[in-house]
Amino acid sequence: MKIGIGSDHGGFELKEYIKEYFEKEDIEYVDYGTNSAESVDYPDYGRKLAEAVIAGEVDRGIAICGTGIGISIACNKVKGIRCALCGDTYSARMSVEHNNGNMLALGGRVVGKDLAIEIISTWLKAKFEGGRHERRVNKISDIEG
Ligand code: RB5
Repeated sequence: MKIGIGSDHGGFELKEYIKEYFEKEDIEYVDYGTNSAESVDYPDYGRKLAEAVIAGEVDRGIAICGTGIGISIACNKVKGIRCALCGDTYSARMSVEHNNGNMLALGGRVVGKDLAIEIISTWLKAKFEGGRHERRVNKISDIEG
């Protein structure tokens, strides 16, 4: 599985930490920026990453801003994206098992680094359960038109 990762300045430090984890664990990733702690606009980075997920450049995406809120809202505007802002491992697992989430959002100023890694490793292992959840996820797609 190839993971896309992107952030604004508020998520930059956590993004760099997560990249070290990916390298240590041999997890393939593409970094969609930002590339420094200089102030940028989170919709630009969320959009770029979300569009890469939809284009199939990467299998799933991890988006990070200060709270994770702004970037998750931006990502969810891209048709086909189901981006879940998670601060715990249970929600991260459920966002895939029940909601077939294809993106995870994290708050770089909210979650600690170790918790972020636990959330990511749980999220990466999770698989969509389908069945009744498929019907519900399809109804989300119907809203998009
Ligand atoms: C940037 O200061 C901050 O607003 C942004 O990272 C994010 O938290 C927005 O939701």
